Amino acid sequence: MSVNWALPFDEKILPEDKRNLLSIEEYHKVHRASITSYQQFWAGLARELEWFKPWNSILDESSPPFYKWFPGGQLNASHMCLDRHVRTGRRNKVAIIWEGEPIDQDGPKQVRKLTYGDVFHEVNRIAHVLREKYGVRKGDTIGLYLPMIPEFPMIMLAAARLGACFTVIFSGFSSDSLAERLIDTDAKLLVTADGGYRRGSVIKLKEIADKAVENAPCVKKVIVVKHVGNEVEMDSSRDAFLHDIIRDVPQSTFVEPEKVGSEEPLYILHTSGTTGRPKGQVHDVGGYLTLLHATMRWVFDARDSDVYWCTADIGWVTGHSYIVFGPLMEGLTALMYEGALDYPEPDRWASIIERHRVNILYTSPTAIRAFMRHGEQWVKKHDTSTIRLMHSVGEPINPEAYRWMMRLVGRDKVPFGSTWWMTETGGILVSHTPGLYMVAMKPGTNGPPILGIDADVVNDRGESQKPLERGFLVIKNPWPGMPLTIHKDPERYKEVYWTRFPGNFYAGDYAVKDDDGYFWMLGRADEIIKVAGHRLGTYELESALIQHPAVAEAATVGVPDEIKGEVPVAFVILRSGYTSNPALDRELHEWVRERVGHVASLKQIYFVSKLPKTRSAKIMRRVVHAVVIGKPIGDVTTLEDEASVEEVRRAYLDLKKEIGV
Ligand code: WTA
Repeated sequence: MSVNWALPFDEKILPEDKRNLLSIEEYHKVHRASITSYQQFWAGLARELEWFKPWNSILDESSPPFYKWFPGGQLNASHMCLDRHVRTGRRNKVAIIWEGEPIDQDGPKQVRKLTYGDVFHEVNRIAHVLREKYGVRKGDTIGLYLPMIPEFPMIMLAAARLGACFTVIFSGFSSDSLAERLIDTDAKLLVTADGGYRRGSVIKLKEIADKAVENAPCVKKVIVVKHVGNEVEMDSSRDAFLHDIIRDVPQSTFVEPEKVGSEEPLYILHTSGTTGRPKGQVHDVGGYLTLLHATMRWVFDARDSDVYWCTADIGWVTGHSYIVFGPLMEGLTALMYEGALDYPEPDRWASIIERHRVNILYTSPTAIRAFMRHGEQWVKKHDTSTIRLMHSVGEPINPEAYRWMMRLVGRDKVPFGSTWWMTETGGILVSHTPGLYMVAMKPGTNGPPILGIDADVVNDRGESQKPLERGFLVIKNPWPGMPLTIHKDPERYKEVYWTRFPGNFYAGDYAVKDDDGYFWMLGRADEIIKVAGHRLGTYELESALIQHPAVAEAATVGVPDEIKGEVPVAFVILRSGYTSNPALDRELHEWVRERVGHVASLKQIYFVSKLPKTRSAKIMRRVVHAVVIGKPIGDVTTLEDEASVEEVRRAYLDLKKEIGV
């Protein structure tokens, strides 16, 4: 990620509604008090959830960094999202408005509106068959590989109801990536769909799932949601359609929500790191729901009358926290859209806002930049004036994109921020909090840390940086929502996050604080690539490449992209006997897409005969990256062969000249 130092540190925008506006000095005072007694502070929030049994202590700190929040306490995420609401007047309130992708001149072909009562009954019926027919219990893990349909959150809630753990694999991942994640979590059951729509074509999920299950023998049964209606092969000893297995389960079925320990796992979600296989982040129940409860209220200012739309996919953590558990726990009406935001025309997203009268929008810088490229006439075709609050997430937002969206949709007055967090953090940690108090907005900032979070920017030695000095982002106190561990690899959890700055959580992001104490996240300090806000590890791409018989070695790095923020390119050394040619180039592109998934489309492949390496033969991606983005390559004392740098540079520049990229 290139660092843009021309950030508008001093440009301030005040929201129109100034009721809860604080000066930055007042904010720092409140914030300091919250982090001084952060345990008590978070316990106050946790008390607002509904517990079956109160906790024994707020935080178990006996074995850092394996902190446990609210140990001894018992609750259930499905109960929190459903039972609480159906007991009250929210039974007939719409919980999920779903819009499918296919559309014609009369409007979307499929819109479903499910009330809290509907979702409650359906989740109970699904939980019933999962338990009675499939023997799903606490301690089991089930895999989910689904398109954005209402069954997706309902199956997550059904698993949670039984106290079982679930693991979601984004539907853009390939069968290899799916198999790897199913094996890592020992998933015994996989829930998928016949297919899903994406940009007008059908993604044949069942076919991909079949291939994955062949290589993941832990999976004994497969449940298929019929959505598209395409022909699928069913193995009668293993597969069943969801509608068939729940057909005879009465509407009134009630499955008692399992009493789950606060510190027990709710889900495992894999995320990319720099080296090694994807890391299965294990999230707990009590701490996680506490953070979501707080941030739904503070960051999104959730109110009962709101229609709330998060444009992410549930396959990523944003969808877990802010499409499913956050909004449903708060009893909101959450909108779910199946397809591409600019399909079939660039105004699809704006038409959705108008059609469903959306009040709160949570989207990504990549989406905003794409809207911007299409031009403002598309937005102006629709009435988006129902929007009263917006946030973005996933990557830094460039000030131009911020200002464009703020002007056209935010009418230069609604609260609009860039919420910083990670799969690891479970929920938002650095953000404006218009539901609680507001400080002035600045285009591109993340704002100050939320209450109860002690974040800082530090230098190599872990010392606080002065304002406007770039450093590394750390979180200095345990927070509810933090991971329990990395699945099956606690040592790695310790090493990746807690070793570089002992006692602090190392996020892996570069950041600066400005004179007001606002944080500006500047991109990853490691080799993680953020493509359209989606996190890709160099490992996944490179290990796919080197599986190809022609490839001896490969290094992948991210290069800046106007729309997607970053896209991956690869430098490849071929095995002897192979020479580079357009057919091989095409084949390798396809090969990576097939093995990792369509999220992993390489922008370019450069063929080289050597790569910069350390004397211990580790590829120095940092050097490759510097060459590609035209930055000084920095300290190369550990570089084994300097000529390799020239070789990379030449390959890059030659191709640039040839094809003008
Ligand atoms: C980046 C996504 C700047 C950051 C929720 C982080 C951001 C990584 C922002 C985590 C933001 C996320 N501004 N950068 N508002 N939000 N990031 O795990 O580099 O997919 O470390 O979680 O996204 O990505 P992940």
